[in-house]
Amino acid sequence: MTSRSCLTVILAAGEGTRMKSSLPKVLHNIAGLPIVAHVAKAVHGAGVRDIALVVGKGGDQVEAAVRSIVSNVTVHGQTERLGTAHAVLAARESIARGYDDILVVFGDTPLIETAALDQARAKLADGADVVVMGFRPAVPNGYGRLIEQDGRLIAIREEKDASEAEKKIGFCNGGLMALRGQSALALLDKITNDNANSEFYLTDVVEIANAEGKSVVAIEISPDNVIGINTRVELAEAEAVWQTRKRRDMMLAGVTMQAPETVFFAHDTLVEADAILEPNIIFGPGVSIASGAVIHAFSYFEGAKIGANANVGPFARLRPGADLAAKSKVGNFVEVKNAKVGVGAKVNHLTYIGDAIVGPAANIGAGAITCNYDGYNKHLTEIGANVFIGSNSSLVAPVSIGDNAYVASGSVITANVPADALAFGRARQEVKEGRAVQLRARYAAQKLAKKAD
Ligand code: UD1
Ligand code: CA
Repeated sequence: MTSRSCLTVILAAGEGTRMKSSLPKVLHNIAGLPIVAHVAKAVHGAGVRDIALVVGKGGDQVEAAVRSIVSNVTVHGQTERLGTAHAVLAARESIARGYDDILVVFGDTPLIETAALDQARAKLADGADVVVMGFRPAVPNGYGRLIEQDGRLIAIREEKDASEAEKKIGFCNGGLMALRGQSALALLDKITNDNANSEFYLTDVVEIANAEGKSVVAIEISPDNVIGINTRVELAEAEAVWQTRKRRDMMLAGVTMQAPETVFFAHDTLVEADAILEPNIIFGPGVSIASGAVIHAFSYFEGAKIGANANVGPFARLRPGADLAAKSKVGNFVEVKNAKVGVGAKVNHLTYIGDAIVGPAANIGAGAITCNYDGYNKHLTEIGANVFIGSNSSLVAPVSIGDNAYVASGSVITANVPADALAFGRARQEVKEGRAVQLRARYAAQKLAKKAD
């Protein structure tokens, strides 16, 4: 990593009308994180700590999203949107603080990778004054074409101004740039709006810098780095690219996935090597899975911690605060929320564990539930080590069950159970010999009488 100082200008003043949304475009999520925060994450990954954020409507929320990643943010409002160069100049004050490098990125281009930003800055360190991030799209239509001569970039020609020969150029402008900080403002100030759209184009900086004999180069980055989001269709496409990258990273880091295309990660999902993920698993934010855990199919997690060698699912739902210790087991149709499940404890089927502590090696029978909510407040259920909770029991919180205690099936437990005790919380069973025969006879007679009516 370089010791050169750097400011990144994130342009995010666009309204994104094509999203058809009341939410600013850059606040729509990919993998549970706003688009613009993905950009900030890549910037942070490149070692850049200073961000100048250019915003329009909804600026406060956009700022908050960026601040969740990087704290050193200055915010610049661009009320009139007069083009990309005009937008960069909205951050004039920040640029004027004096940096070695200025990166210009778009807030709606979330898949930019740290490596691309590093590559652009390396060119500045090598002596370039302007670095343009180019790419080769499958279909170049609509993009500005990069015109090179002897390894130098001499112009960016927008599609509508391009000659037939220039249109054949496959190397296009991704829109993102790096500028030498020393000369950035002087160059930007020379840009005019003398074009068909009467906009101040950032791309004009290429010809202006060339005219001054400065060094301008293009680097090639992979097309997925510059996917811009304008519609919800593109949002979904970007999500797919992000997920594909994440799955690959996970597998290369030692996570087994049988059908990776069916597993959906959040931006912050952590899975250790030698965990196994079966098909169809969805991660919300805040989930970590330790080594050796096996996650069976069709499970849904959010804000949960899964310990080493734990066994979860199929069809498990872990909600925020679920904390499964090593070797614990949470089986099918089980929901766990704000609860610790101890080492080796088993919650195998059809159970709700909410606001609870389940001790090590405890066994929770099928259909048992914690009744944690009285309509106003949530209450704690404490289950000790090695406790056995019989099937279909209701534990009415606040309540505690001592170590090694045993709760009979079908109990409604409203009072604390001490250690080593056996608790029944249900009516005692009565058996009346031969009474079924009498009952059947009576009911049959009633049915016959009805027919005769
Ligand atoms: C830009 C490039 C084009 C390139 C393309 C790649 C220019 C002039 N053109 O065009 O060569 O091929 O990206 O996608 O740079 N923004 C503001 N304020 C403004 C204008 C724009 O904040 O006044 C923001 C937008 O919100 C957006 C970004 O800047 O995030 C890019 O602007 P946009 O209008 O989408 O540029 P393109 O037409 O795509
Ligand atoms: Ca665009």
